[in-house]
Amino acid sequence: MKILLYTILICLFLIACGTAKRGEPAYAPVHASEPAIAQGQVVFNTFCTKCHPGGEAGLGPSFNDKPLPGFLMRFQIRNGLGVMPAFKEEVISDNDLDNLIAYIKTLRKAKNDKAVQAP
Ligand code: HEC
Repeated sequence: MKILLYTILICLFLIACGTAKRGEPAYAPVHASEPAIAQGQVVFNTFCTKCHPGGEAGLGPSFNDKPLPGFLMRFQIRNGLGVMPAFKEEVISDNDLDNLIAYIKTLRKAKNDKAVQAP
């Protein structure tokens, strides 16, 4: 009897996972980058800008002037280092972390573009 109950529970679990996946597109829609970056900016302004104002150096170092790879920034954000606090999933969700990294990359690009335009 218990086995039947567990089987039903496992089936329900698998069905629930299946339906959640069905709604997702198989590929990333191109125009989705804009709202993601906007959301990344919200996350950045909430948690990061007080120490890294606009990606420039503040209490923390600047990171809009060096090509830090995304995985390194993710590690730093999740685990912290020295004075920089760790931001766990309860604070910044995985999805928001993706958006945040996308936003930081646009900050860097904006900075590079400015440097190119400067006389
Ligand atoms: C309390 C201040 C503080 C906050 C808030 C903070 N940081 Fe930092 N951050 C630091 C300090 C200090 C360091 C340098 C750590 C070290 O090397 O000892 C740093 C380092 C970094 C680095 C590595 C820079 C490098 O040159 O290697 C990245 C990337 C970074 N922070 C991103 C973020 C992001 C993204 C957020 C928001 C989620 C954030 N930080 C929030 C203080 C902060």
